[in-house]
Amino acid sequence: MPVYVYGHPVLRKVAKELGPDYENFSELHTNMWETMYQSDGVGLAAPQIGLSIRLFVIDGNSLSDDFPELKAFKKTFINAQIVEKVGDKVLESEGCLSLPGIREDVSRPDRIRIKYLDENFEPHDEVYQGFASRIIQHEYDHIEGKLFVDHLSPLRRRLIKGKLNAITVGKVDVDYRIRLPK
Ligand code: NI
Repeated sequence: MPVYVYGHPVLRKVAKELGPDYENFSELHTNMWETMYQSDGVGLAAPQIGLSIRLFVIDGNSLSDDFPELKAFKKTFINAQIVEKVGDKVLESEGCLSLPGIREDVSRPDRIRIKYLDENFEPHDEVYQGFASRIIQHEYDHIEGKLFVDHLSPLRRRLIKGKLNAITVGKVDVDYRIRLPK
């Protein structure tokens, strides 16, 4: 499926919860994984394929050489709620399939506690830290209508404004399918 990029209004909506009766859920879930792997992402949220629902998938294995906590970290998060953010703020570089060509350092708290349902709609209440926590926070932002560039300083944001504008009109070099705002 094409990835919706910066400027598309669906990326700015607070996404709605979904239930086990969601139409064609298992097909959608499979499509999310496929779209994520095809575009070499480590995470993908439903708004990025145009669906404003509280669903995201993460597979951190490809980064596990640099971040051991990501080994075997492959999960589906439904109706997630981050209930606690603690720990020191940590600065790390982030990118996003909806913001091709942009990488920026983002400051986030190191540790979170999150309640969510897995792909079988079974409830979980877990604590994550390190890069796993960061990826979850990044994907969670998507279902809250936020993007990682929202965390940048006004100066930093001004410096990348040209790049952001270029994305909205498709002036980007990507090797996966994208959907432009218009
Ligand atoms: Ni993203």
